[in-house]
Amino acid sequence: MTKVRIIRATPQHCEVLSALHRTSFSKPWSKESFAALLEQPGVAAWISKDNEPSGFILLRSVGDESEILTLAVAPNYRRAGLGTLILKTAFDALQASGAKTMFLEVSVQNPKACGLYRKFGFSPKGTRPAYYSNKNTRAAADAIIMTKTL
Ligand SMILES: CC(C)(COP(=O)(O)OP(=O)(O)OC[C@H]1O[C@@H](n2cnc3c(N)ncnc32)[C@H](O)[C@@H]1OP(=O)(O)O)[C@@H](O)C(=O)NCCC(=O)NCCS
Repeated sequence: MTKVRIIRATPQHCEVLSALHRTSFSKPWSKESFAALLEQPGVAAWISKDNEPSGFILLRSVGDESEILTLAVAPNYRRAGLGTLILKTAFDALQASGAKTMFLEVSVQNPKACGLYRKFGFSPKGTRPAYYSNKNTRAAADAIIMTKTL
């Protein structure tokens, strides 16, 4: 991570957001999905750029609550503090705009993300049983709801 920049995403970035999402999730979101989300009130995204786009976060704010809808760092850029930096950028911007809490759902089977959120100060507040389904294995994983006060 040499000269990373974090920029606020615009509707022009939907293709980049979709490509980044594809690097990290088994059910990729299309550029049309990102476009539809970014049109919604309170939805905002940030993209990190090294020599190329390297990670992103997408959030939805309603009132003084902000939900992390998705967050990813491309595999080649992981474990270098970028996920933390992206979270911090969003956190600072939300705080400046008056948000009071952030929350998210994360799979109990995602220790990397759970570790990132815990390290950033999120605390578990509850679970959603069998929230994430897997059509291939027919198994389902619980989600942990985590929150952080800004
Ligand atoms: C989760 C993710 C965003 C972390 O990004 P990152 O840039 O690697 O995170 P950071 O380097 O800032 O790591 C911060 C902390 O997260 C945890 N963490 C990150 N990667 C980890 C790993 N491979 N194993 C264990 N803990 C890990 C650690 O607590 C780490 O702190 P440490 O390095 O001091 O131990 C990235 O792994 C990712 O994109 N995963 C796939 C998509 C995903 O799961 N998104 C979250 C959906 S809710």
